[in-house]
Amino acid sequence: MELPVIDLAPYLENSSLDSEIESVCLEVSRTLRETGALLVKDPRCTAEDNDRFIDMMEKYFQQPEEFKRLQERPHLHYQELNSEPVIPEGFPEWKSTMDSWGYKMISAIESVAEMAAIGFGLSKDAFTSLMQQGPHLLAPTGSDLRAYGKEGTVFAGYHYDLNFLTIHGRSRFPGLSIWLRNGRKMEVKVPVGCLLIQAGKQIEWLTAGECMAGMHEVVVTNRTTDAIKRALEQNCSLWRVSSTLFAHMASDAVLKPLGHFSDSPLASKYPPICAGEFVEHELAVINLKGNKGA
Ligand SMILES: [Fe+2]
Repeated sequence: MELPVIDLAPYLENSSLDSEIESVCLEVSRTLRETGALLVKDPRCTAEDNDRFIDMMEKYFQQPEEFKRLQERPHLHYQELNSEPVIPEGFPEWKSTMDSWGYKMISAIESVAEMAAIGFGLSKDAFTSLMQQGPHLLAPTGSDLRAYGKEGTVFAGYHYDLNFLTIHGRSRFPGLSIWLRNGRKMEVKVPVGCLLIQAGKQIEWLTAGECMAGMHEVVVTNRTTDAIKRALEQNCSLWRVSSTLFAHMASDAVLKPLGHFSDSPLASKYPPICAGEFVEHELAVINLKGNKGA
């Protein structure tokens, strides 16, 4: 089984909800429910945009450790936009590239959130109205496959994400596996020009478990080592860059089963809680377990 690719273009081009759009929205909610993940093609997020971001991050991660120690870990908090991020020396394109890719991925998430809401039988803005002012976080990571490219190396152990939806640009090195609702494990293949979205714990809360947070891991597999061989032959970077954006509900938004999900027999498992408090609680549990989680 492979994940279907949802093309967002027809939804973005049509302001009215016709039967074609409605069936795409149903496919979005069905796929999220069954797999906890979704592949999308968004005309606003092109393969060239993804490449520009990854090229810059590869160049950054290739710098000596002393250079990288001068900066904080590269990330962008979308609520902290007034504080100027640290721009590494020799990267004049840093801010515009980070901002542009981050905003493009947020736009894709917002459209998917609208489509999922429609597909789940909620109002179009049921999710997006809670996302305004959410502490969205663009957190690229770099893994050095020269040092850590052995099959079986774990970059992120089995976990779920505690936010609403997570979106990833396509990585040049595969390695992500997800667990489907039926318990089967599946390696994710992200086609060129596509984005991968994953359901986090906050969407599970809002749908009373109809859409569960997707369990996943990132491990060096034989497909990763094949990509390493190709990169070596072509003299390409061996840094595995992931461009991950965690979309969150606003900290003061109340998480609780929305609309008809409040009548679900499972609704009592998901009592009302502020998103900010929810995140703090989840982080405390992760720290107790002693792993890095999301
Ligand atoms: Fe994750």
